[in-house]
Amino acid sequence: MAKEYAANTMSRFNLGGRIIVITGGAGLLGVQHAEAVIEGGGTAVLLDIKKEAIDAAMVRLRDKYGKDCSVVGYVTDITGEESIRCVSERIVRDCGSVYGLINNAANNPKVEGNAANMGAFQFENFPMSMWLGDIAVGLTGAFLCAKVFGSGMAERGNGVILNISSDLGIIAPDQRIYRKDGLADNEQTVKPVTYSVIKHGLIGLTKYLATYYAEKGVRCNALCPAGVYNGQNEEFLKKLTNLIPMGRMAHVDEYKSTILYMISEASSYMTGSVVVVDGGRTVW
Ligand SMILES: NC(=O)c1ccc[n+]([C@@H]2O[C@H](COP(=O)([O-])OP(=O)(O)OC[C@H]3O[C@@H](n4cnc5c(N)ncnc54)[C@H](O)[C@@H]3O)[C@@H](O)[C@H]2O)c1
Repeated sequence: MAKEYAANTMSRFNLGGRIIVITGGAGLLGVQHAEAVIEGGGTAVLLDIKKEAIDAAMVRLRDKYGKDCSVVGYVTDITGEESIRCVSERIVRDCGSVYGLINNAANNPKVEGNAANMGAFQFENFPMSMWLGDIAVGLTGAFLCAKVFGSGMAERGNGVILNISSDLGIIAPDQRIYRKDGLADNEQTVKPVTYSVIKHGLIGLTKYLATYYAEKGVRCNALCPAGVYNGQNEEFLKKLTNLIPMGRMAHVDEYKSTILYMISEASSYMTGSVVVVDGGRTVW
């Protein structure tokens, strides 16, 4: 009896061929989300603005899971409603109806360790063009994709939206970890204001959609991951890991199981939730 129950529980993680759209799907974590979808038995649909990155991601996934693995990619700019509508029609024609959406795309200006943006991101100097550009991808893009794909899910009466926020969707950036010795105050690198605004905003979008769509069978949740190891320098790593109770950053594949949980029937009673996976960073 116990064994039967366990088998039943595990089957709830199986996506059973469901189609999951991943925005920014060719980026560092987007490809990991795609791996979670493929390993869970779904079809991963990568939307990304960079064609070469999509091509490289497809090669990588086919090398790992076989040339017939369930992944497709489309070059799409998620800041435009028309381009999202066009790609959504293509996906339906090529693959079928979309069951899940992972709003993952973002402009990620590099500020960790190796960057030298020399004060350009400081709040006092922050350019309007960068504000608008970051918001267009991280927030407007998520709104538009939820509108286009979420409406289809609501019409069919089932679906799931997962917004990728951040530990910095819960807490403010600690700007001290980005500081470099020998630079004047006005030359220091900072985490841009848009990052906080977008990541907090995605949590608002999550709660709005979760309640708006609750009776239509569409769930919406947010995942707040913390930083992953990606070639940051030692000095930065030391300062950051000091702020994390577990004393380390995440490995790049450490969010895959949470992703699969949140987009599958395994989380069938979860909506409007903000799941924090951050080695304890936001607890301190
Ligand atoms: N990497 C981390 O340590 C970390 C930590 C916490 C949260 N996150 C969040 O996870 C998500 C993915 O991060 P990542 O590290 O993989 O970033 P990444 O920069 O590697 O990937 C982002 C992808 O979005 C794509 N993109 C940008 N503008 C687009 C547009 N207009 N239309 C379509 N695609 C567009 C980029 O081409 C890129 O492939 C982001 O939302 C990020 O803020 C990342």
